[in-house]
Amino acid sequence: MDSIKQPSDGKYIGDWKKGEAIAQSGRGATWTDKADTVVGGGCYNCHQIDPKEISYGNIGPSLTGYGKLRGYSQEVVTYTWNRINNSKAYNACSNRPRFAHFKLLNEQQIQDVMALLLDPASPVNK
Ligand code: HEC
Repeated sequence: MDSIKQPSDGKYIGDWKKGEAIAQSGRGATWTDKADTVVGGGCYNCHQIDPKEISYGNIGPSLTGYGKLRGYSQEVVTYTWNRINNSKAYNACSNRPRFAHFKLLNEQQIQDVMALLLDPASPVNK
């Protein structure tokens, strides 16, 4: 838990539209990708997120209505940030990719997927 870096600019919430593109993209970090290929989050591989997207996996829980259901408190925001950065801080047997720990997503990308889940204007929370 102590190794997780909080956002350097203090901002947890970026742009949900960019977050949706990152959540959709599973590109990057495979042997056919060039080293500078921008890596996606592949979040839909395991989660339902925007209810308009009907193609999603279910290894992880549905994240539809994420902020609306849990609220937008700093506790929820920090928990979600930490979960995305390094899920093993909460669950040693977590199946989730440790996005920041393995440098899969950068800080800006994590701020954008945070917005997809926690911006009240995101389709996830409509
Ligand atoms: C390989 C499958 C997989 C991928 C890819 C994945 N997750 Fe998860 N996620 C899980 C699982 C499984 C859990 C349940 C908790 C656990 O096992 O640690 C989870 C839990 C979560 C939680 C906590 C939910 C709660 O109610 O506490 C959040 C938030 C989350 N994921 C967001 C994301 C985001 C954002 C992405 C993309 C950047 C993503 N996940 C990619 C499998 C995945």
